[in-house]
Amino acid sequence: MSDKKLVLLPGGAGYIGSHTAVVLLQAGYEVLVVDNFSNSSEISLQRIENITEKKCPYVRGDIRDRKLLLEIFQQYDIYAVMNFAGLKAVGESCKKPLSYYNCNVFGVINLLEVMQERNVKTFVFSSSATVYGDAPIPYTENTPTGIPISPYGRTKLHIEQILSDLYNSDNAWNIAILRYFNPISAIENGLLGENPQGIPNNLAPYIAKVAAGKLKELAVFGNDYPTVDGTGVRDYIHIMDLAEGHLRALNYLENNHPNFNIWNLGTGSGYSVLEIVRAFEKETGITIPYKITARRPGDLPEFYADPSKAERELNWKAKRDINAMMRDLWNFIKNNPNGYE
Ligand code: NAD
Ligand code: UFG
Repeated sequence: MSDKKLVLLPGGAGYIGSHTAVVLLQAGYEVLVVDNFSNSSEISLQRIENITEKKCPYVRGDIRDRKLLLEIFQQYDIYAVMNFAGLKAVGESCKKPLSYYNCNVFGVINLLEVMQERNVKTFVFSSSATVYGDAPIPYTENTPTGIPISPYGRTKLHIEQILSDLYNSDNAWNIAILRYFNPISAIENGLLGENPQGIPNNLAPYIAKVAAGKLKELAVFGNDYPTVDGTGVRDYIHIMDLAEGHLRALNYLENNHPNFNIWNLGTGSGYSVLEIVRAFEKETGITIPYKITARRPGDLPEFYADPSKAERELNWKAKRDINAMMRDLWNFIKNNPNGYE
């Protein structure tokens, strides 16, 4: 690219945003992160610079701060926005629904209003497979959305609907909704990864902490589901494949402007909890002690993506297999036993 295009990355210091920043910088874009660091650290931004040998400037701030956003759009020539900022803990969202609606829904509305005012209308949104509710699998983008089980999931569905209404009101907007399945693992060089604070809620970081000796054993939430071995099945996707999906979506918007589109980002294959445990053990040689416990309320037995629309339209396909996911997950945890501290 000759003319550098600047992509604003709210939430860019977090897990998915930081990996996507690397991919965008390596593809020749410039990035600007705005993050309140409520669930991340500036160290990830330093690491992005180390990996790419490019600048990753940032502004400390909140997407709900209209004045700050207006200043950012005034000061920088922003070309597109990929929003990663938001709260994402399903269980916490049941206890603090107002915080979730405020951050995830009001925050994005605020961002969109400022974009509209500044006439920046290219937007990529981090959605989730949770919007399908308990629809039949595999989920395609035409599968009707269901009622997500948690307030967190409902914030994603609300924003999807707001984005659709926005595009219908003014189709100068250029919008990509990316429905992530289960992103896990880390960039291959072990410099960036998932860095949850406290005890992880999600399977992959939990297993990694058990492997690192920081947690005693994994609780497997139920082994009486109608699945291959009774444990829950998910479509785990390597974070670098997911990050590359963002680049392809942005490229698509550039070449098919204006647009409103939804793509699943998943692999199309499901793995059970015990299959993941075995894959981790095989790849690392570390035994993961586990016990079977009760089902976790709200969990679905099994879901995975039909990713063919993204393959067809974005020329994107997840290429890293489950062994690579386990290897890179452990590589990050081994090299960063205390996260980014
Ligand atoms: P993350 O918590 O690692 O990153 C989110 C980032 O946003 C953090 O750096 C946090 O400090 C920042 N942030 C939060 N609220 C903010 C605000 N109001 N203003 C500015 N910054 C704010 O999470 P992630 O896993 O990288 O997820 C990114 C997005 O993808 C989220 O919207 C999440 O809901 C969505 N998503 C994640 C998953 C997953 O499994 N990780 C699955 C589906 C969808
Ligand atoms: N699981 C365990 N033990 C654990 C953690 C998880 O057995 O300690 C099981 C769960 O029961 C489930 C599977 O591992 O069967 C995956 O659970 P995760 O918590 O890792 O992921 P979820 O599918 O529940 O949720 C994730 C994100 C959500 C997102 C959803 C769909 O956390 O934000 O994927 O994209 F909505």
